[in-house]
Amino acid sequence: MKPQLTIALSKGRILKETLPLLAAADIVPAEDIFSSRKLIFDTNHDHIKLVVIRATDVPTYVEYGGADMGVAGKDVLMEHGGAGLYEPLDLEIAACRLMVAGMKDAAPVEGRMKVATKFVNLTREYFARQGRQVDIIKLYGAMELAPIMGLADRIVDIVDTGNTLRANGLEPMQHIADISSRLVVGQPSMKMKHALIQPILDQLQLAIDRRR
Ligand code: ADP
Ligand code: PRP
Ligand code: MG
Repeated sequence: MKPQLTIALSKGRILKETLPLLAAADIVPAEDIFSSRKLIFDTNHDHIKLVVIRATDVPTYVEYGGADMGVAGKDVLMEHGGAGLYEPLDLEIAACRLMVAGMKDAAPVEGRMKVATKFVNLTREYFARQGRQVDIIKLYGAMELAPIMGLADRIVDIVDTGNTLRANGLEPMQHIADISSRLVVGQPSMKMKHALIQPILDQLQLAIDRRR
């Protein structure tokens, strides 16, 4: 029997852009993911399954072998730290930037700065590299609200169009990283299931190249 292969997909805004790439690698879910409450989906291949989970859980699933490979934003991968993962492909979808932002025209912060974010690890590392001591306030969303309410001096968050910052009287201040979604593969899976995984990587690479 062929070994089984499980691919973890981020639900939310990446999913719609991920499915056409998978289809280009001839992997198609057996039913409509968007109208289903299922978390695990059969595909057109008996040996390939898809699991659809929170974006932040994808690296964890792949690290611990709950899935062989997955699709996740570089922001999520930076925050996770990348242990146990290979990152062979930039899928070039969901492009955005990771930025430090604050209230428009805010004065520089003297002394310790309060930074609200859901990316606590990468934020700590970013400011540590700058030799800057910060207090990090963990939030799970709507980071843009924190400076308005006096909870924090700055935020670290994703910026795409900049509309959310502008609509709330904030402005981007420092660029931390360019972000896009990546394909990750668990290190043991890459070794044990290489014959299954490599053709999928090749097909995905072709699909990415065709889009350029
Ligand atoms: P979450 O619920 O964890 O915020 P999303 O589905 O909103 O998950 O985001 C998934 C990924 O999409 C993020 O990790 C990031 O890489 C990317 N992303 C988030 N916001 C945007 C945006 N406004 N524009 C483009 N890409 C984004
Ligand atoms: C993301 C991100 C910003 C916004 C940036 O939020 O956290 O708030 O998009 O996009 P923009 O620059 O085009 O306005 P999202 O809509 O995913 O909300 P959530 O993650 O807080 O649920
Ligand atoms: Mg989001």
